[in-house]
Amino acid sequence: MSLLGALDRIADTPTFDKAIAPARAAVRALLRPQGLKDLLHGTWLGHPLHPVLAQVPVGSWVSAGILDAVPPTRPAAALLIGTGVVAAVPTALSGAADWSEQEVGVRRLGAVHAVANTVALGLYVGSLVARARGAGALGRVLAYSGLGLAGGSAAIGGHMSYAQSSGVSHSATAARGLTHEWIDIGPMDDLPDRRPALRTGEGQGVPVPLAVVRRGTRVDVFVGSCAHLGGPLAEGTVEQVRGADCLVCPWHGSAFELDEGQPRRGPAATAQEKLEVRYVAGRVEARLPGRHLEG
Ligand code: FES
Repeated sequence: MSLLGALDRIADTPTFDKAIAPARAAVRALLRPQGLKDLLHGTWLGHPLHPVLAQVPVGSWVSAGILDAVPPTRPAAALLIGTGVVAAVPTALSGAADWSEQEVGVRRLGAVHAVANTVALGLYVGSLVARARGAGALGRVLAYSGLGLAGGSAAIGGHMSYAQSSGVSHSATAARGLTHEWIDIGPMDDLPDRRPALRTGEGQGVPVPLAVVRRGTRVDVFVGSCAHLGGPLAEGTVEQVRGADCLVCPWHGSAFELDEGQPRRGPAATAQEKLEVRYVAGRVEARLPGRHLEG
């Protein structure tokens, strides 16, 4: 088993589910306003906010560790440690918002990630207190302990993203299954108005679900797997969300603008993959946009 592959065992283990469930309920209650959740998810940014914010505490603490290693620069380390401590609060909130909307295995690993980060934060606060009291050596020991723990926890966060697909666009992954040929969606008149319809794109030997929405004489075609966790968008609804016609996912309510595919409401933070559309003799055809084509 690889070093970080052992983390998958944790994700498979339900031992602490009884403790995780109330923590998740508390996070969801705390972050109930949709605008706050979307702010923390990064829906407005088009990218998950948590990994962006995490650069600040991690970068500050690594830099403080370098300053602590060189005696003349040690006094400046406290400023960086304090910066990391302050930045850890919004970073933790954005992570908690994402965590509360993830599948069970990611939630289990995310709980370990959160506990490790909380302990690391406590060690850094203790380091600041020790330094303020003139106990510089103890302050450095606490800071390096915090750095080791935060580094291990960052590796867990990376495993959640890269190995367990948390925070990645599931629609971009599904889009790669399609060929680059025009796909016949069928006669426009067969499509219901303002209701998603399921069509299938011919993939590289694998059928790929598409969610097709007609509004009058305009048709928008999306990869059918939701960017958030792959929910079936063709089973969703068309709704007005914050002033725009959106395709709404039936699983967790993410809303994607029909015109551009951008998220208007989370938990999705990335755009939904949208296909180019053309109309040929009353029929609709769609294909992947240019960014998926080899040069
Ligand atoms: S799968 Fe979560 S909102 Fe679509």
